[in-house]
Amino acid sequence: MSTWRDRVRSWNSDAGISELPLIQAPMAGGPSRPALAAAVSRAGGIGFLAAGYLTPDALARQIDELAGARVPVAVNIFLPDADPPHAADEVVRYADELEPAAARVGATLDPTVAYTDDAYREKIALLVDRRVALASFTFGCPQDWMVEQLHAAGTAVIATVTSIEEADAAAAVGVDAICAQGTEAGGHRATFDQATSAPDTATIDLVDALRRFDLPVIAAGGVADSRDVAALLAAGAVAVQVGTALLRADEAGTSPTHRAGLAAFTSRPTVLTRAYSGRQARGIRNRFIEEFDAAAPAAYPRVNSLTRAIRSAGSDDPEVINLWAGTGFAAARGGPVVELLRALTP
Ligand SMILES: Cc1cc2nc3c(=O)[nH]c(=O)nc-3n(C[C@H](O)[C@H](O)[C@H](O)COP(=O)(O)O)c2cc1C
Repeated sequence: MSTWRDRVRSWNSDAGISELPLIQAPMAGGPSRPALAAAVSRAGGIGFLAAGYLTPDALARQIDELAGARVPVAVNIFLPDADPPHAADEVVRYADELEPAAARVGATLDPTVAYTDDAYREKIALLVDRRVALASFTFGCPQDWMVEQLHAAGTAVIATVTSIEEADAAAAVGVDAICAQGTEAGGHRATFDQATSAPDTATIDLVDALRRFDLPVIAAGGVADSRDVAALLAAGAVAVQVGTALLRADEAGTSPTHRAGLAAFTSRPTVLTRAYSGRQARGIRNRFIEEFDAAAPAAYPRVNSLTRAIRSAGSDDPEVINLWAGTGFAAARGGPVVELLRALTP
């Protein structure tokens, strides 16, 4: 089987577009819609759909829409965390803490929210059925059967890792590439075990450490400009995955409140927090994080489902919603993807 990189190269040259060493990070929750992925791939990068939180039917529609744009289809899958033993009780307790915030926005909390595995089996079956070009995984190590079925469908497999140990496990199941997610990255940490805090290794140091594996390494986390991209490529990455730098792109499905927060809060720091979902994620510090970070249990995805009512009711308030962002967010600009990618290209 040709490597994923060879295949993307040949698609791009067939389509007559130049190849950029840039991958659009999968960004679940809205930003990664087909229009964004298509625009990135047409500009010579690789665009990603994000399967997380979507129903399998909604994912199928997005895959078909992207395939209709005649670009390679790449999809990211959330692997489920085991439900921690005391998760249900901890969520009831956390719901109690959250009551004042719920009351402020007029939301009703459901402390009995159920555990969900994000329908990952159905989604992998869909990827196999549609014979997508690339499948990447986060929140866990893909299992042998996943890699076997995807390879049989001609799909290249990428595992997202935050440490050498996780890369070791991914290499052992025969993935085609590893995505090295450093601590600067916006959104959720890819850590295989939600209970552990991800190591605070910088992206460039993780890329360097993962050179020991005989696998292509994609660098992700904290990219603000073309100098960051150049430095990560020089450190040994075959490509650089950018998320936050594309959140304000015209084609992204980022919510207006998230866009406004990115533009307005440039003097605020980003922090890692479990307050919204129970899993560590990096976002711009706001009132919700300040109030609830300390109380939040490591109980993904129940906490994510629990806080949804508050996030929906308070969707126009940047002090309420999760403003996921990497450390370089102050440099993120609006405009068409093709221009943003040009500015990021060394
Ligand atoms: C809003 C947002 C949503 C994200 N959703 C996902 C996701 O669904 N799957 C995934 O593997 N990574 C996700 N990430 C992490 C990205 O894949 C990537 O690691 C990160 O964006 C890189 O750091 P940067 O944002 O500083 O560029 C998300 C990041 C952001 C900012």
